[in-house]
Amino acid sequence: MDKLVIEGGARLKGEVTVSGAKNAVLPILAATLLTDEPCIIKGVPNLRDTNSMLKILRSLGKIAEFDKGRVSVTAGKTSNYIAEYKLVSTMRASFCVLGPLLGKLKKAKVSLPGGCVIGVRPVDLHLKGIRALGADISIDAGYVVAAASKLRGTYIYLGGVYGSSVLATDNVMMAAVLASGKTVIESAACEPEVVDLAEFLIKMGAKIKGHGTPVIEIEGVKHLHGAVHTIIPDRIEAGTLILAALITGGDVLVKNVHYQHLGALIDKLSEAGAHIERTDAALRVKGNKKLRSVNITTLPYPGFPTDMQAQMMSLMAVTEGISVITEKIYPDRFMHVSELNRMGAHIQREGPHAIVEGIKSLSGAPVMASDLRASAGLVLAGLSARGKTSISRIYHLERGYELIEEKLVNLGAKVWREKE
Ligand code: UD1
Repeated sequence: MDKLVIEGGARLKGEVTVSGAKNAVLPILAATLLTDEPCIIKGVPNLRDTNSMLKILRSLGKIAEFDKGRVSVTAGKTSNYIAEYKLVSTMRASFCVLGPLLGKLKKAKVSLPGGCVIGVRPVDLHLKGIRALGADISIDAGYVVAAASKLRGTYIYLGGVYGSSVLATDNVMMAAVLASGKTVIESAACEPEVVDLAEFLIKMGAKIKGHGTPVIEIEGVKHLHGAVHTIIPDRIEAGTLILAALITGGDVLVKNVHYQHLGALIDKLSEAGAHIERTDAALRVKGNKKLRSVNITTLPYPGFPTDMQAQMMSLMAVTEGISVITEKIYPDRFMHVSELNRMGAHIQREGPHAIVEGIKSLSGAPVMASDLRASAGLVLAGLSARGKTSISRIYHLERGYELIEEKLVNLGAKVWREKE
């Protein structure tokens, strides 16, 4: 296993290009199961999760090839309806093959994705929505077994205890596109990645309205065809790079960003006093100003993203003042707190809150990555710290950040990989 070593203190400077969005590409690849015709997806990031989804597609009968950011899912019938535990357990997003398999084959057997270090992650909303469309669902030996002689459009309220669900909205939308009649999903997730999936489905011939709002309307069609689509830029990678520039006092042009997808983050950073200039599809971040601490509450889109919480905590750890960070999506997503404290941070966890008392600087230390975004938070902490930080279990980072070491090294960071 590799660990990532960072010699902190280098100010990042230069230009960096954001890759395609992981959370958009995974359900979009799953959506190719809805047709037997070829699909081409461009701007695909080369990530561990992308490759896991391609393996799942192949196991379900597809011929899927990945070359230089382009995936072609060529003719090849969706012939198998069983998504195996060993494939699904590697990432939660693979559970969203349930909707398309059921829509296309009227039957599906998909392993439950299982637990997760960031807290309990149930699938009740996915099942509620799929059931409402007329499927019989049972749980058998860790698998969800779903079957329907016919799926029928209906009204579905999809809100949960923590608000809307991204992948449940994706799953239900993908099952509903081939159902007969109209489906209305109320309390649908509004995330840009859900919108990107809807746009891809529309290119395949689906009739969808209201995506990007809490009410999505789907008029079922009989058949979907192949389509060509380019994935939106990854707003979480963009946010992480923006914070990398700020935390190192650097000057970086972050290219390939959709400014409007970053509203909550940019608003908070402006409140903190950061200087972020908008140019065409790019953001120039200058970290020469002293920042103030700000409070953050994570919420479903367009609120502050939970996937940026760990990275923001690292920035607040070295920003003067007290910041209260409240996690409203995953109340236990605080595994990075103890690791940041190992680097000298003053952070106290109180239930779903973390109280961060900013200090002048962190000191490098050996730390352990617990999940994807926590790893990103630790990388930012390492970039700003005095001395050397080594982050073990770095494979988490590879799940969601394409070429991250190269990108950071090109900006002047001192980052390298070592065997554990
Ligand atoms: C997606 C993202 C993940 C992000 C999360 C929240 C992908 C591949 N992953 O995950 O990066 O952190 O959105 O923005 O897109 N919930 C239920 N029942 C369900 C489903 C979810 O109670 O059936 C709860 C979850 O436990 C959580 C909240 O709803 O508290 C939101 O989770 P959800 O939006 O479903 O997350 P994912 O779609 O799994």
